[in-house]
Amino acid sequence: MTNPFDVAAEAAAKIAELSGIANHDIALTLGSGWAKAADLIGETVATIPATQIPGFSAPAVAGHVASIRSIKLPNGKFALVLGARTHYYEGHGVRRVVHGVRTAAATGAKTMILTNGAGGIKETWKPGTPVLISDHINLTADSPLEGATFIDLTDLYSKRLRDLAKTVDQSLDEGVYCQFRGPHYETPAEVQMAKHIGGHIVGMSTALEAIAARQSGMEILGLSLITNLAAGIQKTPLSHAEVLEAGRDAEARISALLAEIITKI
Ligand code: HPA
Repeated sequence: MTNPFDVAAEAAAKIAELSGIANHDIALTLGSGWAKAADLIGETVATIPATQIPGFSAPAVAGHVASIRSIKLPNGKFALVLGARTHYYEGHGVRRVVHGVRTAAATGAKTMILTNGAGGIKETWKPGTPVLISDHINLTADSPLEGATFIDLTDLYSKRLRDLAKTVDQSLDEGVYCQFRGPHYETPAEVQMAKHIGGHIVGMSTALEAIAARQSGMEILGLSLITNLAAGIQKTPLSHAEVLEAGRDAEARISALLAEIITKI
């Protein structure tokens, strides 16, 4: 079987070839509601359809963007923006889920910013609230690590980067992200379980990616946009349309926030 790190190295080489940028410094995965950040953080040097890069495929979900962008930041560093996340629920296996993160590391990125749209358990969070991920609970019963690869996950979501984000916006709250397998939303009972075991945010991405990013030695910043209160916390049924709408409404604001955070990294 092909080694996933070899595929990531091939992907990074192709990105270097097509973008003309030999090394990237920082990488971002932009989830629901965060896409506009790509337009705000700097000057786009190259936009590459994800399908031209080894190991990537077109995303399965409407509202997710399938391109990889190379962006020159005002400080002269280069950011790699992954607009094409593969979700665990797509059923392509966990290697594909973390391929973007491993590719980012292979391009040289030392910082991985993982963003998502997610459900909020804390009732004080209104839809449209950005929240820093302080830790996670991986409820997928899976791991991107293969074999006897014992990796420490203490301070997985860097305290240094969370503190730095708070210097940009002191009102930023933090929470523990619970990754469910999806693609169904959680039942109200599952949301109560998540709450009781210490979760504040529920979603279908990010935790597996963060583990792979740590394995590759990157420093991680995780940000969730609360698109809705989680099932049973909000009294109305959940819908993907509502999630997308909350993302659109908050996009300009949270993208500007992220752009400002990036200038400080
Ligand atoms: N649960 C899981 N994933 C989500 C949610 C949710 O409530 N909202 C947006 N993505």
